[in-house]
Amino acid sequence: MKIKNSVVLVTGSNRGIGKSYVTALLNHGAKKVYAGIRDVGAFDKLASEWPEEHRGKVEPVALDITNEKQIQSAAAKAGDIDLLINNAGIANFTGLISAGNLDSARQEMEVNYFGTLMMSRAFAPVLKKNGGGALVNVLTVASLGNFPVLGSYSASKAALHSLTQGIRAELAAQGTRVFGVFPGPIETDMAKDFDMEKSSPDMIAEGTLKAMVQGVEDIFIDPMAVQFRKDYFSDPKALEKQLSEFLPVASS
Ligand SMILES: NC(=O)c1ccc[n+]([C@@H]2O[C@H](COP(=O)([O-])OP(=O)(O)OC[C@H]3O[C@@H](n4cnc5c(N)ncnc54)[C@H](OP(=O)(O)O)[C@@H]3O)[C@@H](O)[C@H]2O)c1
Repeated sequence: MKIKNSVVLVTGSNRGIGKSYVTALLNHGAKKVYAGIRDVGAFDKLASEWPEEHRGKVEPVALDITNEKQIQSAAAKAGDIDLLINNAGIANFTGLISAGNLDSARQEMEVNYFGTLMMSRAFAPVLKKNGGGALVNVLTVASLGNFPVLGSYSASKAALHSLTQGIRAELAAQGTRVFGVFPGPIETDMAKDFDMEKSSPDMIAEGTLKAMVQGVEDIFIDPMAVQFRKDYFSDPKALEKQLSEFLPVASS
């Protein structure tokens, strides 16, 4: 997958890793980037941070990935993309047993799993029409091993990992490459209360683009993620035991 001259849609692009994706794509010569944003009113402030030469290449798209109508409008508007980056996601930091009700777990599934599924379905024909292209899902190391402190988030991202494998098989026939990114803790709003060493969102964005160019489907970039992959493949049971120490407050 080439980034130069690509036309891209990034979901959740107003902050965190999504914002870094937009900048990295522009720096690597993307022709156009559609910035999926829930509050499009925030776009002007965002755009003011890019160098002059990049501003005309970014177009805001109102996009809540749980809103099917907005997804359909986005697919009509961004009908020229050849790369979709499904980055938007939420983490409520709730356990599976200790959370009071199912609201948090359902919300995480709605955004992280069903939202990404709806986006993938809506844009698969667009990617096909434009020659195949590529689709990236932002997963997490928690897709491979459950962190009990964010147990329901981990479960939603495990479902998204499975979805990623499934659509990779389904979209192969139309020539769409499907990539999964598995970051460890990253310095963004999402992880602000997570007391671990964190890597920068720019590292994830740059690393993703580099891996895509090299054709690496399962992308592990930051040092924690690289170590996690080693531990997962060498002894998944030992890793599960290690992760069991990250308990939600109510159960510790
Ligand atoms: N930070 C980490 O440690 C870490 C580690 C591994 C994986 N990840 C994954 O990386 C991705 C980006 O996370 P981040 O760290 O950049 O988090 P973040 O700073 O909290 O940003 C999340 C982004 O997703 C958007 N979003 C949330 N719900 C949405 C919805 N229903 N529709 C559309 N957009 C929505 C947010 O928009 P608003 O501004 O409108 O809320 C925001 O732009 C997520 O998929 C996350 O699971 C993060």
